Amino acid sequence: MDRLDKFIATHSEASRKGGRVTVNGEVVFDQGKKVSNKDSISVNGLDILDRGEVYIALYKPEDVVCSHLDDVNETVIEMIDGFTHKEMHIAGRLDKDTTGLVLMTSDGGWAHRVTSPKRKCGKVYLLEAADPIDEEYVKVFERGLLLRNEEKPTLPAKLELLGEFEARLTLTEGKYHQIKRMFGAMGNKVVKLHRESVGGIGLRDLEPGEFYELDEDEIGLF
Ligand code: URA
Repeated sequence: MDRLDKFIATHSEASRKGGRVTVNGEVVFDQGKKVSNKDSISVNGLDILDRGEVYIALYKPEDVVCSHLDDVNETVIEMIDGFTHKEMHIAGRLDKDTTGLVLMTSDGGWAHRVTSPKRKCGKVYLLEAADPIDEEYVKVFERGLLLRNEEKPTLPAKLELLGEFEARLTLTEGKYHQIKRMFGAMGNKVVKLHRESVGGIGLRDLEPGEFYELDEDEIGLF
């Protein structure tokens, strides 16, 4: 919930001063009235709530699930409550125990372009493994490997060794549990996984659980 004057200032070009403001069809004079995205607000007869499509970058914390509904766990959609007046698409899901960047949008075409392997958009992950990682992994991931129950090998992926157990991995696709399965195929186990960026979009200075709306340049990347 926000003050009406603040809400109008942040969500539209319109100035409240001198304008006739209605909230859910009723004229309102109290600038301090508490409103949210779920209210229908207009200034001088113009609806300011329809801001077009919504594009959001969320820092997903651990134990939050990338789905719309879940009986047990908090969902990424619940974390952006207030921006969910439109149906949202999750553009590339993370596992419950993976942290980091999740993009969400009301724009179905944009979400599709982000996740399509044809676009070769780099998704960058930081990971920690249970056992040491070496140059052999770099070669195998660069070549691509056939995971169980898949018809095609993984697309070339770039692995950068950061320490004995840590690495940065860039994928251009997103098969189910892909990184955990890639390490499983090498006889290793991923114990920590974090997504730093998708395409040119990063986490800026978000803390876990926080989100921001993408700017025009970021939206234009896809
Ligand atoms: N690969 C995984 O195994 N899990 C994720 O959450 C993302 C990529």
